[in-house]
Amino acid sequence: MFPLYSRKLDTYDGIDIIDINKYKKPVNRKVMVIIMPIKTDTLTNSFRILTKNTEYQIKADEYGVLKRVWYGRRVDCDMEYMLDYPNTGFSVNPYDAAHNRNYSLNTLPLEYPCDGAGDFRVPALSVIRRDGSRALDLRYTGFKVLDGKYSIPGLPAVYAEKDEAQTIEIYLADGDITVTLRYGVLPKYDIITRSAVISNKGKSAVRLENAMSMCLDIPYGEWDWIHFEGRHAMERIPERAPLIHGVQESSSKRGASSHQQNPSVILCDKTCSETSGECYGAALMYSGSFKTQIEYDQVNQARLVMGINPDLFSWELKPGDDFHTPEAIMTYSAEGFSKLSHNFHRVIRNNVCRGRYKTAKRPVLLNNWEATYFNFDDEKLLEIAKKAAELGADMFVMDDGWFGKRDSDTSGLGDWIVNENKLKGGLKPLVDKVRKMGLKFGIWIEPEMVSEDSDLFRAHPEWVIRIPGRNPALCRSQLVLDMTRNDVRDYLYNAISAILNSADISYIKWDMNRSICDWYSDTLTSVNMGEMPHRYVLGLYELLEKITSDFPDVLIEGCSGGGGRFDAGILYYCPQIWCSDNTDAYDRTKIQYGTSFIYPLSAVGSHVSASPNHQTGRVSSIEARAVTAMAGSFGYELDLNKLTDEEKEEVKNQITRFKGYDDLIHNGTYHRLSDPLRDKFALWQYVAEDKSEILVHGMIFRQEPNMLRYAVRLRGLSEERLYRLETDGKVYTGKALMNGGILLPHTWGDYAPVELHFTEV
Ligand code: GLA
Repeated sequence: MFPLYSRKLDTYDGIDIIDINKYKKPVNRKVMVIIMPIKTDTLTNSFRILTKNTEYQIKADEYGVLKRVWYGRRVDCDMEYMLDYPNTGFSVNPYDAAHNRNYSLNTLPLEYPCDGAGDFRVPALSVIRRDGSRALDLRYTGFKVLDGKYSIPGLPAVYAEKDEAQTIEIYLADGDITVTLRYGVLPKYDIITRSAVISNKGKSAVRLENAMSMCLDIPYGEWDWIHFEGRHAMERIPERAPLIHGVQESSSKRGASSHQQNPSVILCDKTCSETSGECYGAALMYSGSFKTQIEYDQVNQARLVMGINPDLFSWELKPGDDFHTPEAIMTYSAEGFSKLSHNFHRVIRNNVCRGRYKTAKRPVLLNNWEATYFNFDDEKLLEIAKKAAELGADMFVMDDGWFGKRDSDTSGLGDWIVNENKLKGGLKPLVDKVRKMGLKFGIWIEPEMVSEDSDLFRAHPEWVIRIPGRNPALCRSQLVLDMTRNDVRDYLYNAISAILNSADISYIKWDMNRSICDWYSDTLTSVNMGEMPHRYVLGLYELLEKITSDFPDVLIEGCSGGGGRFDAGILYYCPQIWCSDNTDAYDRTKIQYGTSFIYPLSAVGSHVSASPNHQTGRVSSIEARAVTAMAGSFGYELDLNKLTDEEKEEVKNQITRFKGYDDLIHNGTYHRLSDPLRDKFALWQYVAEDKSEILVHGMIFRQEPNMLRYAVRLRGLSEERLYRLETDGKVYTGKALMNGGILLPHTWGDYAPVELHFTEV
């Protein structure tokens, strides 16, 4: 018999509070996470983590092996009966399971599987001891429950109020190596975070070769996986494929999370759609090289591991040292991808992004990059800014080319001193003039990089990442500064704060325009050299932390050739990220579609640019470009003076409209109403939290003659309420809009914009 958890004492926000009378430590009874240690006279311990709609069960069995018993819908029942113990040939058995051939680490769902002791699937942890041996067989030693959400030294992590989250630490050990598995639980959002602390309690150093943030074993089910692939100027395109036996992987070795793959993944059942089906999602809060692996094993179990890419990682763990893995954010939805995305959007918006701009309205900005590239002076910029002010923008952003000798991308990076040939009299007079127009001022920097042709490189060639005796590889003609060095970080901190203190600057675009290789640092010995890629990221985070805490009013937008470092780690410091260097509206419907599976719209930097588009040559109307760019932190990236008078009027109107919608777009609930990779149109919808307002935006790619109009069902409305469509004043019931749908307007020409705005009657 398995126990039913039935001793319900109370409920909180729909979540059962269950007697936790076996606790040794006092626990606040109002907490929403329920851990039930079922103590027996052996080592057996069970943990049950409840969120609003999900349940996670972990058990340390009679051998102390920590098994994942369940993750999915709320079941209110011990699910251990679902674990099977097959006697599969060539599976090894732990010594203490004696001759029980049915008990094998190789077939059990494990919480944090290790290398070398009989589980032959992809591991979460690989260690090499001093004697060269690798076997690690962690067993349970105890647990602790803490109010609030844990944080991680030197790394970004989900944060929460004390009464909003709980932390469970589960302790494991094999001899002198101990591991603390940390689970942060945010019941309201169905979010569970994972991170591990690996500690060396012994007398000699050991080497970590792989230390993943999470493992999720799922014994049953037929699964597809979705990852987000792409390239520069075409990022995060979702790719869904069935699991095949063996290991499937999505990863980056570029020193950044990359354009090519994203540190996020979804496992879903075969029938999973936007509105139904089961899916698990995981997103890594990390901006460096990562790896996600899903192994589909011999008995059709799926194992998902995610963390720092072990191919570029090796860490010497000295006696007494702890190593903290980055955090992985997990969620589960039994209601398809929409619900999964809503969970991620909410937690990233409210518990990852920080600072004033977490809630403050994001300024509508005009960026001069595609308007001028490197070819500008102060007069030219002022002309562009003036028009932006006239048409209603909030901020002018001066992009690349304002500093050092920077007339092309071959020189000047590192010399963060204004170029007075371009900006006569320096930065302050320009900023003051722009501020007088009623605009805020923003500035572009690329702190981590240096050009060979720069004063900084000439003064400090030793600050660059390169291997002694070898020429370093170049990328966009630039080199990378060694962010593990204190003197480099100090230089950058001083350079950035000097810029920010020199004038009234409200925004930084923090760019990073190359992939990193030639890993080597003078600060490390040959024994420690494998630590460099991770230490680079720690150095970057330290600098970002210092800048964000010393300049709390400055909005930082992340960027890496567009979306080459678009991850939940960067969002902890920069609440928005330039989504892609591709500003073509049609392509953006696909890029932003993929991005929206994990990341909230407020995180997506998105601008209207010129037509024909500079990346694709595609022609589209200013209205189509605006509707697409409004799905994010909105702005313009063109010379508004070059527009026709009609277009200028339209821009004015767009900015006014966006300012009426921005709360709905950034804080409302977002629904993908079509799949633009497959369908003939892209369509998405925003619903106000109180369901009183709905905005449908999109683009019909091509017009087909002699056809019915497209009908699309809306989602997330109140069935009983009445909604009026702004364009024609017609009134519909929520029920009709959700069950029948709405007919999309007749449009004319390619890439035709759609905007349907409904308000409750
Ligand atoms: C990167 C960015 C662009 C622009 C240029 C400037 O490519 O993504 O938006 O800032 O750098 O060099």
